[in-house]
Amino acid sequence: MKYIRHASIAALAFILCSGWTAFVSAAQVEHHGFTIESEGSARDCLSCHDGALAKSVSYCTVQCDFSGAHSILRPYPPKSNSEHYASIKSVKAKGVKIRNKKITCISCHDLKNPKKYHLVVADQPRLCIVCHV
Ligand code: HEC
Ligand code: HEC
Ligand code: HEC
Repeated sequence: MKYIRHASIAALAFILCSGWTAFVSAAQVEHHGFTIESEGSARDCLSCHDGALAKSVSYCTVQCDFSGAHSILRPYPPKSNSEHYASIKSVKAKGVKIRNKKITCISCHDLKNPKKYHLVVADQPRLCIVCHV
């Protein structure tokens, strides 16, 4: 009896824990016909956005010229000219997510926003000035 009770407590704990894990990581979202992790890494996004399952995205990780390519995996705030960039605290408060102190796809895109381009803010000009001050 004691064993069973412990076993069921363990089972309950397991369910609660896995339930919690699921809750924490289950930020899944419907995305153009797929159910995916809404806060996936750049690699997750690029697993489709390399032209395989979705439009290929040009991105840039070194010496970006910003003529259109997305700069990703660049440090935020950047090491030089940091006075021209808002603090991490301020950008986070506006919905921009910085991961491992770097810019990633979900810094600019919020897949839970159903509007065109799924941006983290209402419109593109407003997006730029979240970081560029
Ligand atoms: C399972 C595949 C898949 C994954 C993973 C994925 N996408 Fe997409 N995404 C699509 C498809 C399909 C479209 C529709 C347009 C197309 O074919 O490119 C799309 C469209 C988009 C669009 C354009 C929406 C518009 O209004 O034009 C953005 C922005 C986008 N995805 C961002 C992301 C980001 C950021 C991630 C990672 C967090 C991501 N996607 C992960 C498949 C995927
Ligand atoms: C610095 C902000 C920023 C980052 C970082 C960023 N994006 Fe974007 N993305 C935008 C903006 C703004 C647009 C809409 C206008 C445009 O295409 O320039 C866009 C458009 C897109 C589109 C639609 C393109 C089209 O032609 O329809 C896709 C898909 C996309 N992004 C995916 C990604 C993925 C995947 C990553 C990570 C590898 C990423 N983005 C990183 C800002 C960003
Ligand atoms: C998440 C923060 C963030 C957002 C949002 C963002 N940028 Fe940037 N941007 C940066 C960082 C960081 C750099 C410097 C990158 C480096 O050198 O590592 C940069 C550099 C640039 C540069 C190069 C010029 C310079 O001063 O070095 C241009 C141009 C630029 N961004 C345009 C844009 C535009 C246009 C948008 C809106 C669509 C935008 N950025 C949105 C963070 C951001």
